[in-house]
Amino acid sequence: MNAKQTLVLNQNLVKLVHLLQDGQYHDGTSIGKILNITRSGVWKLIKKLEQYQVDFTSVKGKGYQLNESLILLDAEKIHAALGKIPLKIDVLEKVDSTNQYLKLSQAPSEQIHLCLAEMQTKGRGRLNRTWYSPFGKNIYFSMRYPFQKDLSELSGLSLMVALGVAHTLDTIMGHSEKIKLKWPNDVMVQGEKIAGILIEIQAESHGFSQVVIGIGLNVNETDANENNITQPWSSLKKLTGIDYDRNGICAELISKLLSYLQRFSASGLSDFHAEWQERDLLFGKPVELTSGNQAYSGIAQGIDAQGHLLLKLPDGSLKGFSSGDTSLRKQ
Ligand code: BTN
Repeated sequence: MNAKQTLVLNQNLVKLVHLLQDGQYHDGTSIGKILNITRSGVWKLIKKLEQYQVDFTSVKGKGYQLNESLILLDAEKIHAALGKIPLKIDVLEKVDSTNQYLKLSQAPSEQIHLCLAEMQTKGRGRLNRTWYSPFGKNIYFSMRYPFQKDLSELSGLSLMVALGVAHTLDTIMGHSEKIKLKWPNDVMVQGEKIAGILIEIQAESHGFSQVVIGIGLNVNETDANENNITQPWSSLKKLTGIDYDRNGICAELISKLLSYLQRFSASGLSDFHAEWQERDLLFGKPVELTSGNQAYSGIAQGIDAQGHLLLKLPDGSLKGFSSGDTSLRKQ
Protein backbone atom coordinates (compact mmCIF):
# COMPACT_ATOMS: atom_id res chain seq x y z
CA MET A 1 0.00 0.00 0.00
CA ASN A 2 1.16 3.49 -0.75
CA ALA A 3 1.22 5.09 2.72
CA LYS A 4 1.17 8.57 1.19
CA GLN A 5 -2.25 7.90 -0.20
CA THR A 6 -3.69 6.86 3.15
CA LEU A 7 -4.99 9.62 5.40
CA VAL A 8 -7.12 9.11 8.49
CA LEU A 9 -10.13 11.43 8.37
CA ASN A 10 -9.14 14.78 9.90
CA GLN A 11 -11.62 15.48 12.73
CA ASN A 12 -11.22 19.25 12.31
CA LEU A 13 -12.33 18.83 8.70
CA VAL A 14 -15.43 16.98 9.95
CA LYS A 15 -16.10 19.84 12.41
CA LEU A 16 -15.55 22.52 9.76
CA VAL A 17 -17.96 20.86 7.32
CA HIS A 18 -20.47 20.49 10.14
CA LEU A 19 -20.14 24.19 10.96
CA LEU A 20 -20.60 25.21 7.32
CA GLN A 21 -23.69 22.98 7.04
CA ASP A 22 -25.97 25.89 8.02
CA GLY A 23 -25.42 27.54 4.63
CA GLN A 24 -24.26 30.79 6.29
CA TYR A 25 -20.93 32.59 5.83
CA HIS A 26 -18.26 31.88 8.48
CA ASP A 27 -15.02 33.83 8.54
CA GLY A 28 -11.58 32.39 9.27
CA THR A 29 -11.28 34.00 12.72
CA SER A 30 -14.58 32.68 14.04
CA ILE A 31 -13.95 29.22 12.54
CA GLY A 32 -10.50 29.22 14.23
CA LYS A 33 -12.11 30.08 17.59
CA ILE A 34 -14.77 27.41 17.37
CA LEU A 35 -12.36 24.70 16.24
CA ASN A 36 -9.63 25.96 18.57
CA ILE A 37 -7.04 26.15 15.78
CA THR A 38 -4.95 28.94 14.22
CA ARG A 39 -5.96 30.90 11.11
CA SER A 40 -3.33 29.03 9.16
CA GLY A 41 -4.88 25.77 10.41
CA VAL A 42 -8.25 26.98 9.07
CA TRP A 43 -6.59 27.90 5.78
CA LYS A 44 -5.16 24.39 5.42
CA LEU A 45 -8.60 22.87 5.96
CA ILE A 46 -10.14 25.20 3.38
CA LYS A 47 -7.42 24.19 0.92
CA LYS A 48 -8.34 20.56 1.52
CA LEU A 49 -12.00 21.28 0.67
CA GLU A 50 -10.82 22.95 -2.52
CA GLN A 51 -8.56 20.04 -3.40
CA TYR A 52 -11.43 17.58 -2.81
CA GLN A 53 -13.69 19.65 -5.09
CA VAL A 54 -16.25 20.38 -2.40
CA ASP A 55 -18.61 23.08 -3.69
CA PHE A 56 -18.17 26.19 -1.49
CA THR A 57 -17.95 29.97 -1.95
CA SER A 58 -15.27 32.18 -0.47
CA VAL A 59 -15.98 35.94 -0.24
CA LYS A 60 -13.41 38.42 1.06
CA GLY A 61 -14.59 39.99 4.31
CA LYS A 62 -17.46 37.49 4.70
CA GLY A 63 -15.77 34.11 4.81
CA TYR A 64 -16.80 30.69 3.51
CA GLN A 65 -20.16 29.21 2.64
CA LEU A 66 -20.96 25.64 1.64
CA ASN A 67 -23.07 25.31 -1.52
CA GLU A 68 -23.89 21.64 -1.10
CA SER A 69 -25.28 19.50 1.64
CA LEU A 70 -22.39 17.47 3.05
CA ILE A 71 -22.07 15.40 6.19
CA LEU A 72 -18.76 13.59 6.55
CA LEU A 73 -18.34 10.04 7.83
CA ASP A 74 -18.17 9.58 11.57
CA ALA A 75 -17.20 6.27 13.20
CA GLU A 76 -18.84 7.30 16.49
CA LYS A 77 -22.22 7.85 14.84
CA ILE A 78 -21.95 4.46 13.13
CA HIS A 79 -20.97 2.66 16.35
CA ALA A 80 -23.82 4.43 18.19
CA ALA A 81 -26.36 3.30 15.59
CA LEU A 82 -25.07 -0.29 15.75
CA GLY A 83 -25.16 -0.66 19.54
CA LYS A 84 -22.86 -3.17 21.13
CA ILE A 85 -21.64 -5.10 18.06
CA PRO A 86 -17.83 -5.38 18.50
CA LEU A 87 -16.25 -4.11 15.29
CA LYS A 88 -13.12 -2.27 14.30
CA ILE A 89 -13.99 0.61 11.95
CA ASP A 90 -11.30 2.73 10.29
CA VAL A 91 -12.61 5.90 8.67
CA LEU A 92 -10.20 7.36 6.15
CA GLU A 93 -10.12 10.70 4.39
CA LYS A 94 -8.32 9.26 1.41
CA VAL A 95 -6.96 5.86 0.42
CA ASP A 96 -5.99 4.12 -2.80
CA SER A 97 -8.64 1.42 -2.27
CA THR A 98 -10.48 0.39 0.91
CA ASN A 99 -10.18 -3.27 -0.19
CA GLN A 100 -6.44 -2.91 -0.67
CA TYR A 101 -6.12 -1.22 2.74
CA LEU A 102 -7.67 -4.20 4.51
CA LYS A 103 -5.85 -6.75 2.36
CA LEU A 104 -2.35 -5.39 2.80
CA SER A 105 -2.06 -3.32 5.92
CA GLN A 106 -3.75 -5.53 8.44
CA ALA A 107 -2.63 -8.89 9.80
CA PRO A 108 -5.28 -11.63 9.59
CA SER A 109 -7.36 -11.86 12.76
CA GLU A 110 -10.68 -13.14 13.98
CA GLN A 111 -12.00 -9.64 14.48
CA ILE A 112 -14.34 -8.17 11.89
CA HIS A 113 -12.61 -5.09 10.51
CA LEU A 114 -14.14 -2.35 8.38
CA CYS A 115 -12.68 0.42 6.33
CA LEU A 116 -14.74 3.36 5.05
CA ALA A 117 -13.26 6.19 3.04
CA GLU A 118 -14.35 9.63 1.88
CA MET A 119 -12.50 9.06 -1.39
CA GLN A 120 -10.43 6.44 -3.20
CA THR A 121 -7.62 7.32 -5.56
CA LYS A 122 -7.51 3.83 -7.11
CA GLY A 123 -10.97 2.44 -6.46
CA ARG A 124 -11.16 -1.01 -8.01
CA GLY A 125 -14.07 -2.59 -9.83
CA ARG A 126 -14.55 -6.14 -11.10
CA LEU A 127 -12.58 -7.35 -14.09
CA ASN A 128 -9.80 -4.79 -13.58
CA ARG A 129 -12.09 -1.82 -14.03
CA THR A 130 -11.73 1.33 -11.96
CA TRP A 131 -14.43 2.49 -9.56
CA TYR A 132 -15.12 6.23 -9.62
CA SER A 133 -14.74 7.43 -6.03
CA PRO A 134 -15.08 11.22 -5.56
CA PHE A 135 -14.80 12.82 -2.11
CA GLY A 136 -17.80 12.85 0.22
CA LYS A 137 -20.41 11.68 -2.27
CA ASN A 138 -20.81 7.95 -1.98
CA ILE A 139 -20.03 4.95 0.17
CA TYR A 140 -16.71 3.15 -0.35
CA PHE A 141 -16.95 0.29 2.08
CA SER A 142 -14.83 -2.77 2.82
CA MET A 143 -15.33 -5.43 5.47
CA ARG A 144 -12.83 -8.13 6.33
CA TYR A 145 -14.72 -11.18 7.51
CA PRO A 146 -13.28 -14.39 8.96
CA PHE A 147 -14.97 -17.69 8.01
CA GLN A 148 -14.38 -21.04 9.67
CA LYS A 149 -14.61 -22.53 6.20
CA ASP A 150 -12.55 -23.58 3.26
CA LEU A 151 -12.55 -21.20 0.32
CA SER A 152 -14.25 -23.90 -1.74
CA GLU A 153 -17.29 -23.56 0.55
CA LEU A 154 -17.67 -19.86 -0.15
CA SER A 155 -19.00 -20.01 -3.69
CA GLY A 156 -22.04 -17.78 -3.98
CA LEU A 157 -20.76 -15.38 -1.32
CA SER A 158 -20.78 -12.43 -3.71
CA LEU A 159 -24.42 -13.12 -4.66
CA MET A 160 -25.36 -13.21 -0.98
CA VAL A 161 -23.61 -9.86 -0.43
CA ALA A 162 -25.58 -8.36 -3.34
CA LEU A 163 -28.79 -9.58 -1.67
CA GLY A 164 -27.71 -7.89 1.58
CA VAL A 165 -27.07 -4.60 -0.24
CA ALA A 166 -30.44 -4.84 -2.01
CA HIS A 167 -32.22 -5.45 1.31
CA THR A 168 -30.42 -2.45 2.83
CA LEU A 169 -31.63 -0.27 -0.05
CA ASP A 170 -35.20 -1.51 0.50
CA THR A 171 -34.98 -0.34 4.10
CA ILE A 172 -33.44 3.04 3.21
CA MET A 173 -35.93 3.77 0.42
CA GLY A 174 -38.94 2.17 2.08
CA HIS A 175 -39.46 -0.26 -0.85
CA SER A 176 -40.28 2.67 -3.16
CA GLU A 177 -38.22 1.10 -5.98
CA LYS A 178 -37.70 -2.52 -7.07
CA ILE A 179 -34.06 -3.41 -6.45
CA LYS A 180 -32.88 -6.07 -8.89
CA LEU A 181 -29.62 -8.00 -9.21
CA LYS A 182 -27.73 -8.62 -12.43
CA TRP A 183 -25.61 -11.74 -12.07
CA PRO A 184 -23.13 -12.04 -10.51
CA ASN A 185 -23.52 -9.05 -8.23
CA ASP A 186 -24.52 -5.76 -9.84
CA VAL A 187 -27.21 -4.01 -7.81
CA MET A 188 -29.67 -2.37 -10.21
CA VAL A 189 -32.61 0.04 -10.06
CA GLN A 190 -34.70 0.89 -13.14
CA GLY A 191 -32.07 -0.90 -15.28
CA GLU A 192 -29.22 1.27 -13.94
CA LYS A 193 -26.40 0.24 -11.62
CA ILE A 194 -26.52 1.71 -8.10
CA ALA A 195 -23.95 -0.50 -6.35
CA GLY A 196 -21.12 -2.88 -7.19
CA ILE A 197 -19.34 -5.55 -5.19
CA LEU A 198 -15.75 -6.74 -5.31
CA ILE A 199 -14.79 -9.70 -3.12
CA GLU A 200 -11.12 -10.48 -2.63
CA ILE A 201 -9.50 -13.29 -0.70
CA GLN A 202 -7.05 -12.18 1.95
CA ALA A 203 -5.91 -15.47 3.44
CA GLU A 204 -6.72 -19.14 3.65
CA SER A 205 -5.30 -21.87 5.86
CA HIS A 206 -6.57 -25.10 7.46
CA GLY A 207 -10.26 -24.51 6.98
CA PHE A 208 -10.07 -20.84 7.91
CA SER A 209 -10.59 -18.09 5.30
CA GLN A 210 -10.50 -14.32 5.43
CA VAL A 211 -12.30 -12.42 2.73
CA VAL A 212 -12.49 -8.72 2.02
CA ILE A 213 -15.95 -7.67 0.90
CA GLY A 214 -15.84 -4.37 -0.99
CA ILE A 215 -19.01 -2.43 -1.73
CA GLY A 216 -19.34 0.78 -3.71
CA LEU A 217 -22.78 2.38 -3.29
CA ASN A 218 -23.79 5.54 -5.14
CA VAL A 219 -25.49 7.79 -2.61
CA ASN A 220 -25.41 11.56 -3.20
CA GLU A 221 -23.77 11.52 -6.64
CA THR A 222 -25.84 13.28 -9.29
CA ASP A 223 -23.50 14.62 -11.93
CA ALA A 224 -20.84 12.07 -12.86
CA ASN A 225 -20.47 11.90 -16.64
CA GLU A 226 -19.51 9.17 -19.07
CA ASN A 227 -15.81 10.00 -18.59
CA ASN A 228 -16.15 8.83 -15.02
CA ILE A 229 -18.69 6.00 -15.25
CA THR A 230 -19.09 4.15 -18.52
CA GLN A 231 -22.36 2.32 -17.86
CA PRO A 232 -25.85 3.62 -17.00
CA TRP A 233 -25.84 4.40 -13.28
CA SER A 234 -28.14 5.57 -10.56
CA SER A 235 -27.80 6.85 -6.99
CA LEU A 236 -30.07 7.20 -3.99
CA LYS A 237 -30.26 10.96 -4.48
CA LYS A 238 -31.05 10.60 -8.18
CA LEU A 239 -33.98 8.36 -7.24
CA THR A 240 -35.40 10.25 -4.28
CA GLY A 241 -33.99 13.79 -4.43
CA ILE A 242 -32.84 13.41 -0.81
CA ASP A 243 -29.36 14.33 0.47
CA TYR A 244 -28.37 11.41 2.66
CA ASP A 245 -26.24 11.23 5.80
CA ARG A 246 -24.07 8.26 4.77
CA ASN A 247 -23.42 7.28 8.40
CA GLY A 248 -26.94 5.89 8.87
CA ILE A 249 -26.71 3.97 5.60
CA CYS A 250 -23.33 2.49 6.61
CA ALA A 251 -24.78 1.33 9.94
CA GLU A 252 -27.77 -0.28 8.17
CA LEU A 253 -25.47 -1.93 5.63
CA ILE A 254 -23.19 -3.33 8.34
CA SER A 255 -26.05 -4.72 10.36
CA LYS A 256 -27.80 -6.33 7.35
CA LEU A 257 -24.53 -7.78 6.05
CA LEU A 258 -23.63 -9.29 9.41
CA SER A 259 -26.96 -11.02 9.66
CA TYR A 260 -26.73 -12.29 6.05
CA LEU A 261 -23.15 -13.48 6.66
CA GLN A 262 -24.26 -15.42 9.74
CA ARG A 263 -27.01 -17.11 7.73
CA PHE A 264 -24.53 -17.85 4.94
CA SER A 265 -22.01 -19.32 7.42
CA ALA A 266 -24.69 -21.59 8.84
CA SER A 267 -26.52 -22.74 5.70
CA GLY A 268 -24.65 -21.53 2.61
CA LEU A 269 -26.31 -20.14 -0.49
CA SER A 270 -29.30 -22.51 -0.38
CA ASP A 271 -30.91 -20.28 2.26
CA PHE A 272 -30.95 -17.39 -0.24
CA HIS A 273 -32.23 -19.11 -3.37
CA ALA A 274 -35.79 -17.79 -3.20
CA GLU A 275 -34.57 -14.27 -2.45
CA TRP A 276 -32.30 -14.41 -5.49
CA GLN A 277 -35.16 -15.58 -7.71
CA GLU A 278 -37.25 -12.59 -6.63
CA ARG A 279 -34.52 -10.14 -7.56
CA ASP A 280 -33.04 -11.87 -10.61
CA LEU A 281 -33.01 -9.24 -13.37
CA LEU A 282 -31.94 -11.71 -16.06
CA PHE A 283 -34.32 -14.64 -15.50
CA GLY A 284 -36.02 -15.81 -18.72
CA LYS A 285 -34.37 -13.06 -20.76
CA PRO A 286 -31.88 -13.22 -23.64
CA VAL A 287 -28.45 -12.58 -22.18
CA GLU A 288 -24.94 -12.15 -23.46
CA LEU A 289 -22.16 -13.38 -21.19
CA THR A 290 -18.50 -12.60 -21.76
CA SER A 291 -15.94 -14.69 -19.94
CA GLY A 292 -12.29 -14.04 -20.82
CA ASN A 293 -12.34 -13.55 -24.57
CA GLN A 294 -15.30 -15.88 -25.09
CA ALA A 295 -18.86 -14.63 -25.58
CA TYR A 296 -22.01 -16.70 -25.11
CA SER A 297 -25.64 -15.96 -25.84
CA GLY A 298 -28.55 -17.72 -24.22
CA ILE A 299 -31.70 -17.45 -22.18
CA ALA A 300 -31.00 -17.00 -18.46
CA GLN A 301 -32.43 -19.78 -16.28
CA GLY A 302 -31.46 -18.55 -12.81
CA ILE A 303 -28.61 -19.93 -10.69
CA ASP A 304 -27.55 -23.38 -9.51
CA ALA A 305 -26.62 -24.46 -5.96
CA GLN A 306 -23.13 -22.90 -6.29
CA GLY A 307 -24.50 -19.59 -7.56
CA HIS A 308 -23.36 -20.26 -11.14
CA LEU A 309 -25.43 -18.62 -13.86
CA LEU A 310 -27.43 -21.09 -15.95
CA LEU A 311 -27.86 -20.24 -19.62
CA LYS A 312 -29.95 -22.16 -22.12
CA LEU A 313 -27.77 -22.06 -25.22
CA PRO A 314 -29.12 -21.88 -28.80
CA ASP A 315 -28.56 -25.68 -29.22
CA GLY A 316 -30.96 -26.28 -26.31
CA SER A 317 -28.28 -27.34 -23.80
CA LEU A 318 -28.02 -25.85 -20.32
CA LYS A 319 -24.60 -24.51 -19.32
CA GLY A 320 -23.43 -23.13 -15.96
CA PHE A 321 -20.98 -20.22 -15.73
CA SER A 322 -18.92 -19.47 -12.64
CA SER A 323 -17.63 -16.06 -13.75
CA GLY A 324 -18.11 -13.41 -16.39
CA ASP A 325 -19.89 -10.23 -17.23
CA THR A 326 -23.54 -10.20 -18.30
CA SER A 327 -25.73 -7.88 -20.29
CA LEU A 328 -29.30 -8.08 -21.55
CA ARG A 329 -29.44 -8.67 -25.29
CA LYS A 330 -31.70 -6.35 -27.24
CA GLN A 331 -34.41 -8.38 -28.96
C1 BTN B 1 -17.88 -3.53 -9.58
O1 BTN B 1 -17.11 -3.45 -10.55
O2 BTN B 1 -19.10 -3.54 -9.75
C2 BTN B 1 -17.33 -3.62 -8.19
C3 BTN B 1 -17.11 -2.27 -7.57
C4 BTN B 1 -16.59 -2.34 -6.15
C5 BTN B 1 -16.19 -0.97 -5.63
C6 BTN B 1 -15.86 -1.00 -4.17
S1 BTN B 1 -15.68 0.62 -3.50
C7 BTN B 1 -15.05 -0.04 -2.02
C8 BTN B 1 -14.14 -1.20 -2.39
N1 BTN B 1 -12.79 -0.73 -2.67
C9 BTN B 1 -12.47 -0.88 -3.95
O3 BTN B 1 -11.37 -0.54 -4.45
N2 BTN B 1 -13.47 -1.45 -4.63
C10 BTN B 1 -14.60 -1.74 -3.77
